[in-house]
Amino acid sequence: MPPRRPLPALRMLLAALCAAALLTPATRGQVARQPVRARRAIVASSSAFASQVGVEILRRGGNAVDAAVAVGLALAVTFPVAGNLGGGGFMLIRMADGRMAAIDYRETAPAAARRDMYLDADGNHRLEKSTLGYAAVGVPGTVAGFDLALRKYGRLKWAQVVAPARRLAREGFPVSYALAQGLRIAQRLAGDPESRRIFHRDGDYYAEGEIFRQPDLAATLERLEKRGSREFYEGETARRIAAAMRANGGFITLDDLKRYRPVEREPLRGTYRGYDIATFPPPSSGGIILLNVLNQLEGDDLAALGPGSSEASHLLIEALRRAFADRAALMGDPDFTTMPVETLISKEYAKERRATIDLRRATPSATVRAGMEAPASESEKVSEKAETTHYAIVDADGNLVTNTYTLNGPYGSGVTVPGTGVLLNNEMDDFAAKPGSLNAFQLIQGEANAIAPGKRPLSSMTPTIVFKDGKPWLALGSPGGPTIISTVIQTLINVIDHNMSLQQAIDAPRLHHQWMPDVVMWEPYGLSPDTRRALEAKGHRLEATPRYNGDVEAVLIDATGARLGASDPRNPDARAIGY
Ligand code: GLY
Repeated sequence: MPPRRPLPALRMLLAALCAAALLTPATRGQVARQPVRARRAIVASSSAFASQVGVEILRRGGNAVDAAVAVGLALAVTFPVAGNLGGGGFMLIRMADGRMAAIDYRETAPAAARRDMYLDADGNHRLEKSTLGYAAVGVPGTVAGFDLALRKYGRLKWAQVVAPARRLAREGFPVSYALAQGLRIAQRLAGDPESRRIFHRDGDYYAEGEIFRQPDLAATLERLEKRGSREFYEGETARRIAAAMRANGGFITLDDLKRYRPVEREPLRGTYRGYDIATFPPPSSGGIILLNVLNQLEGDDLAALGPGSSEASHLLIEALRRAFADRAALMGDPDFTTMPVETLISKEYAKERRATIDLRRATPSATVRAGMEAPASESEKVSEKAETTHYAIVDADGNLVTNTYTLNGPYGSGVTVPGTGVLLNNEMDDFAAKPGSLNAFQLIQGEANAIAPGKRPLSSMTPTIVFKDGKPWLALGSPGGPTIISTVIQTLINVIDHNMSLQQAIDAPRLHHQWMPDVVMWEPYGLSPDTRRALEAKGHRLEATPRYNGDVEAVLIDATGARLGASDPRNPDARAIGY
């Protein structure tokens, strides 16, 4: 394919990227990367094209919520591995006038869902059934969630925030190296004729620099732009989704789509070393675990122990182990399950949990109370990469949005609804298909998260806003399945305890523990050999992850009012852009 001249919008993006680079302080004499600085506003997302869409919306008078909706729709075009119309997620908003909102647009189980729908005749969980194809799909919430956020907290009209994504889909954008590689290795796309046609070009894979146009997705976005968000749930798009479900063994009906509603919930609140924290409530487990782990660690002088030290790592691992044991036993959709949320996020409960940590040795997970047995084997272990995406926005008025949304696995269930360009999620695997067995993230989950019609699966997504001296300060989040939670915790500890810049805090290596399997996952080059030996001497089992965990996208308002933004180097396409 001959090289093409970049589109005008792309030339603008390149100019903006150069400007963003100039906004960073001079690097002479500096030993670490610094966040992007801007006077008015910053958008940090997993795709430079989507961040640029957000900046354009802000420049045209939109607020952070308008930009958040436009960025989310743009990511569905430029970051198809996780950005979506066919998935769901959580948006945490803090308006400059003090209002806060936690918009839950998590997918729901269709009416025909049954608790044993992914079990075979012998009662075993068939992981491929809950992760691949039409049967794995939950009723998508993204379009309805964005519409609710915009109506209640935005300034612009729906059509104005949909238009940039429609243009990107129609005109196309140059494929990055990471996108070209990601598409090529995504085997699940090859298994669906429509996905194979659009994303694999029937075997003639996209190469870096080629322009990727998605006319079907552009047509879907144009219908949404003209007819409003209900089109997705009641119009031609809905009819196409329902027809594809019927033809391919899926469960979602037109009625399921029509009945889908996002929910506005109360954010969870807590404190850590004098900072106030607002984070996401159930059906995410993320906010509860974040507050519980920080509460457990608050009495320890992590700064004195030092970042990456074996002592600080041991404490973090043990606190995570205990919190994830609670997750497995207790957490699920609050509309279906009663959870002791207030207890779980209280300082008193954390103190009790902390008191059980032995500073000299690891506590085997099998002995940590979790209300259920450990699995007998890890035979279902798969290497599903956690794919979700996060972005954070601060506008000129100081409104903050932090949004995590997902298709669950990379490219979701791998299926694209014919004629729409819409990839569908495989969020049904976030339920406990068989309470006590492992899901694709090797998470054990309990009765509280069993499948039921209309129920939302338990999540780990953790969009979070931190307040310093009572003022909104830092908004952050990450993808990464269960590693989302440990990623957000470590980023906060790096900034608050270790006094790192936002960029250093994100760049630093991370580890993860989730109770079961009883292993410490650590990133390549993330632990020095003597730190590993010290942890092993305490009894920890270490497992190097073949990949990096998470993609933190964050914005911060400093004491002078300057906006700082940082993107994770683990995602080469991510970018914080400000003005
Ligand atoms: N699908 C990943 C999560 O919600 O935690």
